Amino acid sequence: MDKREKIATVLSSFYDQEQVSPRLQEAILYSVHAGGKRIRPLILLETLEGFGIELQEAHYQVAAALEMIHTGSLIHDDLPAMDDDDYRRGRLTNHKQFDEATAILAGDSLFLDPYGLIAQVDLRPDLALRVIAELSQASGTLGMVGGQMLDIEGEEQDLTLEQVYAIHSHKTGKLLAFPFKAAGIMAEQDSETLDKLEEVGLLVGTAFQVRDDILDVTASFEDLGKTPQKDLAAEKATYPSLLGLEQSYTILNDSLDKARAIFRQLEADKGFKPEKIIEILERLRLHA
Ligand code: IPE
Ligand code: IPE
Ligand code: MG
Ligand code: MG
Ligand code: MG
Repeated sequence: MDKREKIATVLSSFYDQEQVSPRLQEAILYSVHAGGKRIRPLILLETLEGFGIELQEAHYQVAAALEMIHTGSLIHDDLPAMDDDDYRRGRLTNHKQFDEATAILAGDSLFLDPYGLIAQVDLRPDLALRVIAELSQASGTLGMVGGQMLDIEGEEQDLTLEQVYAIHSHKTGKLLAFPFKAAGIMAEQDSETLDKLEEVGLLVGTAFQVRDDILDVTASFEDLGKTPQKDLAAEKATYPSLLGLEQSYTILNDSLDKARAIFRQLEADKGFKPEKIIEILERLRLHA
């Protein structure tokens, strides 16, 4: 079974337990198994392996917990009160397929269930506790949710580059930085290495949103699985709207260069094996 299949199996087995509401279960599974790229859980697993860790069930459970929060963030992001999108991952958005109340509650479940899941994994309790604290910070008021608030407040506003960076680094950067950092924690790396992982995570995370904003302008529905050119319609503050496409490509590719250099440094200093992670990063490059 490859890593993606194993992540899907962990998600299914969590939600295939007997449920209070079969409708809620159906709505959650609809979005969880809609064909997302799974980049966050894969980064977590590949970073662990880079540190020479043999993957255990617990690592897959932490990876699945992260994908739950990410999926919940997408369900809520698409709601009429937020970005008001009809398609996600190539199919109708959760509130279109079910209804708004169900979509809100499916998102709530996907935000709350991960903590119980991680609390029960077969991991040293002090490591599990640190991972839970990091996940809460990356997703909550100080992370993704805070960034989503800035994003909504920023609509139809003229923002500075610093303000757009604050939106990107929180709404997307933090949840993409988490898997690098959490892998470092579970691989029991020193604080210097954890700082490097945090740095690299924020670079990749912010680059990922710049990439998403470029693709919103340049890609088709078939490529994206979601409606393109939504950011302009909603007057979102994005890198392409502020700096133009060309500079946005440069920022994306420069950030990936910097991230690659940090992994090469971890290879030299700490014996990290960076090939798989670098492969994931290279796939994020875009060219005009
Ligand atoms: C989309 O994330 C939303 C952003 C944070 C930019 P992904 O591009 O990882 O979405 P899926 O999981 O593959 O659908
Ligand atoms: C989403 O940013 C960030 C989240 C926290 C979900 P976008 O609103 O640009 O994501 P898409 O384009 O709808 O996937
Ligand atoms: Mg949004
Ligand atoms: Mg959106
Ligand atoms: Mg977008």
